[in-house]
Parts: sequence; structure tokens; C-alpha cells
Amino acid sequence: MILDNLDAAAADPILSLSVACRADDRAHKIDLGIGVYRDNQGNTPVMQAIKQAEARLLEEQSSKVYVGMPGNESFNAAMMDLLIGEGESKARAVGVQTPGASGALRMLADVIKLSAPDATVWLSDLSYANHAPIMKTAGLKVRYYAYFDTETKLVNSQAMLADMSQAGANDVVLLHGCCHNPTGADLSFEDWQAVTLLAQKQGFLPFIDIAYQGFGDGMDADVAGFRYLAERVDSYLVASSCSKNFGLYRERTGLAVIVGKSLEQSNKIKSRLLECARSTYTMPPDHGAALVDMILRDQALKQTWLDEVDAMRHRVQGLREQLAGALREKSGNPHFDFIAQHKGMFSVLGITPEQAQTLRQAHAIYLVDSGRINLAGMQEAHIDYIAEKLLLVTAM
Ligand SMILES: Cc1ncc(COP(=O)(O)O)c(C=O)c1O
Repeated sequence: MILDNLDAAAADPILSLSVACRADDRAHKIDLGIGVYRDNQGNTPVMQAIKQAEARLLEEQSSKVYVGMPGNESFNAAMMDLLIGEGESKARAVGVQTPGASGALRMLADVIKLSAPDATVWLSDLSYANHAPIMKTAGLKVRYYAYFDTETKLVNSQAMLADMSQAGANDVVLLHGCCHNPTGADLSFEDWQAVTLLAQKQGFLPFIDIAYQGFGDGMDADVAGFRYLAERVDSYLVASSCSKNFGLYRERTGLAVIVGKSLEQSNKIKSRLLECARSTYTMPPDHGAALVDMILRDQALKQTWLDEVDAMRHRVQGLREQLAGALREKSGNPHFDFIAQHKGMFSVLGITPEQAQTLRQAHAIYLVDSGRINLAGMQEAHIDYIAEKLLLVTAM
């Protein structure tokens, strides 16, 4: 009978790590697993700008009637301003509010499948754990381009460009806009220029996932490479998230951006995306987008928000420098200096799964087997302990 044949799904390695950490009764446990920003007390508070916008929304909102299939159009436009800035491609850009960037990734994947059923999506090796499942569930093929250099722990540009030069008109190349998840190794501006040249020459479709705008070098600096590309290619897609930089995780707030050769074409593609959304969730949830819209359109609220994102960025960058410094001081070698060069919340440490397991089991430091740590899971008081145990298990 239907349903009788289903085995349980495999546990998600990152979510099950959080569960294991919560169940651990060692007082000194440290959770560097799940990708959530935390302050120096280990909390993920609601941002002040969000609190203020929520108070205002509570006063002002007079109806909960459906918003409409593309979601909040004012949010869509404000988010496109944040992403694309004054770039010319904005004139051809259309946005659709989605349930998180996850929703945007999936809806855009569905549209790619409609347009090119045999298309291949190229992902960076490594990439965000959900990229391949989303693309594959949408029926798309997945291939990987070389990205993370396990020696330098930075981007292997040459190998990456060599792989991308195999992608053609039936291919999509998915790029992380900034703050690469999981590695922390970002494309340089020169890399973006080289990728742009290849996109023009080979005719592949760039698809940019931007989940951490503001967490790397700043709100505009983080999208400088993306904007360079955006002004020079015929078409591109973007999935953008408000989970981290607005702290709206559970409100499921994101945006899909479609840029075709003309505004007319973008609108045609948008109508197909809405058709996919209609048969999936019909309309996105409103609350998070209403708050983001209010913040981005009010000068004082926007400044409060920008200051808060700056503070989060500085905290993570400070932790990077302190951890790299402690590792250098204790080991007498610069092996882990790359931690200070990485951007955003994550770094892949280049340790083995066995070493990651020892850190968990023997020292209560929770990180995934891939060796990815969430720097924001750290408190300043943890730095020495983490550095000491990391050197112990890696015999450095
Ligand atoms: C690279 C990347 N893309 C997309 C997402 C999904 O974000 P959202 O919560 O907006 O669905 C994440 C979340 O961790 C991410 O790291």
C-alpha cells in the first residue's frame, strides 16, 4: 500500500549535530555547527531595527488579507536596490518574494527546468549543503567546478576557470555572491572579472546565491563582484536571503531576481516562476518582508540596521583574527592564518572527519565532519581552548 515502502530519511548532519550538542551535559561544550549568528553571550537576539519595525507594524497593519503571488512588491524593489544598486541591469530586473533563499533557489531551479530540461547546474566544490539536493529535486543535473584549494584553503582560481570553460549555453553556473558557505574562501574581484569573461564567451547562465550580504566587507563591498558581472551579461538569476543579515531566519524571507535580455523577457520568465510558486506554496509569508521593506525605506531604521550588521561583521572578523593569532602563537607556525583571510561566518579548517569527531567526542567542540566551523558560534572566552584542542588533534 502507498506509504508502506518509505524508509526514514537520513538525518541532516548539521541539524543532528545541534541536537547532539544540546543533549551534551558537559558545561564547556561549544556549538560551531549550525549556521546561525550568535553574539558573545551565545544568543541570536531579534535585531533592534526589526523590533522597532515590528512595533510599528503592529500599530499600522490593518488587514491580513492575501498580499498576492509575487509577495510584497515594495520589498521586492527595495531588495533589488540593495543588491543591484544603481546598475543598469536593474532596468531589466524583476523580483519575486520567496520563502527564504531556499524558496528562491528552488523556484528558480524549477524555471530553469521548464526552459532547459537537460540543463546542468555547476556548483562549487564544496558548496552549501542544500544546493545539490535542491537542484536535483528540481530534476536538474549537477556538476562541480574546482573551487576550494585544500592546500592554501583559498580559491583555486586557475582550476575553477578551467572547469567553467567547459560550461556552455545549456549550463548554469551557481556562484556564491559573498561569504562562501561552507569554505569562507571568496572570489576576488579579479576572479569575478574572469568569470564574467567566461560567461560572455561560453554563454552559460550565472546564478548567484547571496545569503550573507554585509557579513564580509560591507553591504556594498560584498556585492561589488556580483555587480561587475551583472552589468556585463545578458541574463542572470539571483537568490537572496534575509535570514542572516536581518536575523529573520524563521520568518522565511527571501527574494528571487530574474534578469533576462529585456524587461519583457524577464516578466515572461517571472510569470512562469509564479506558475511554479502557485502549485507549490502559492504565496510567500508576509511578516518578514513587511519588516524588511519598512527598514529599507526609513532612513533612521535603515541606519540602525546597517549599524547592527556592521557590529556583527566586526565581531566575526575579530574572532577570525583572534583565533588565527592564538593558533599562530601556540603552534609557532602560520598554518591557520587563512582563518583571518576568510569572509563571513564560516571557515573550512581542512581537518579530517576523524579529527572533527575527536573534537566533538573528547573536547565537546561541535563541528561538522567536513571541518566547517561557524565562527559566530564562538565566544571570546572560547578562543584559547579551541586553539589548544585544534592543535592537539591535528598534531600541529
Ligand atoms: C549559501 C546559502 N544559500 C541559501 C541559504 C538558505 O537561506 P534561507 O534561510 O533564506 O532559506 C543558506 C542558509 O544557510 C546559505 O548558507
